[in-house]
Amino acid sequence: MNIFRTKSIAEYKADAHQSHLKRAMGSLDVTLLGIGVIVGTGIFVLTGVAAAKYAGPALMLSFLFASIACGFVSMAYSELASMVPVAGSAYAYAYTSVGEFFAWLVGWNLVLEYSVGASAVAGGWSAYVVGLLKTAGIELPATWTSVPADGGIVNLPAVLITLFLTFLLVRGVRESVTVNKVLVGVKLAAIFLFLFLAAPSVDPTNWEPFMPFGFSGVSAGAAVIVFAYLGVDSIATAAEETKNPAHDMPTGIIASLLICTVLYIAVTAVMTGNVPYTELDNAEPVAFVLRQLGYRFGSALVGTGAIAGLTTVLLVMMYAQTRAF
Ligand code: ALA
Repeated sequence: MNIFRTKSIAEYKADAHQSHLKRAMGSLDVTLLGIGVIVGTGIFVLTGVAAAKYAGPALMLSFLFASIACGFVSMAYSELASMVPVAGSAYAYAYTSVGEFFAWLVGWNLVLEYSVGASAVAGGWSAYVVGLLKTAGIELPATWTSVPADGGIVNLPAVLITLFLTFLLVRGVRESVTVNKVLVGVKLAAIFLFLFLAAPSVDPTNWEPFMPFGFSGVSAGAAVIVFAYLGVDSIATAAEETKNPAHDMPTGIIASLLICTVLYIAVTAVMTGNVPYTELDNAEPVAFVLRQLGYRFGSALVGTGAIAGLTTVLLVMMYAQTRAF
């Protein structure tokens, strides 16, 4: 038995030929798909905690550094995705280059990535639902909405949404390109509404000190919020469905990364410019900042957009899990 046995690109392409996936997507579709899977917990949840605990307002720099690292990763992915335009993503690239054993390791890492990632996104989803209900005057007990590490018993809303989406996936529901476009629109609308409402009241004195935890805080922040870019890899799984992988994959991957980076930095700037970074340590900072500014309805709208956005990220991650299997 040879653990370094490789599978040729031609064999993969022959398999892909039989998979009946239609080559219907262009680079704009790939970009929208990318934004659909990338924008989620990172921006709607982690920014607050990462600014409060690790980087302060300099979290903007953390986003920049993380995006540079992800830029290199995505260039490698787009190169590989156009060379091996099949659904297996990193597993297939490892199988065609370094062999089956490494592909096996990569495959299990993908499974780990999607499990841990989906759990984190479900936690963020729960925080926004709890926050929204609170705005409506319904307070859920913390014991049933937080994990033992946070003093609760179980995060029930997170468990329920995961079970519900599992049920949908088992029933064969898969997010369609059209549904994805609508939900990307909702997600972007939530972000733009936040920027529109909160940008005018930015007070630059909140950005001082800019780097309260020093440069090590900025890099610790980057290590945490790299999560916000997670998903950039799963775009490559669509390679088998693009019209011209050599053009559509790199363009779509790089464009979605650039758009997300600009949005992330803008949201962080507005967030930390409105509220001192020390107060941002909560799981729904975008809605929180709007509530602080007195926009209760705006906060509820943005919260609803965030919930829709997080649901798609969760669905895509759990779907990707089935593909990894
Ligand atoms: N990038 C995805 C998110 O931020 C995982 O939710």
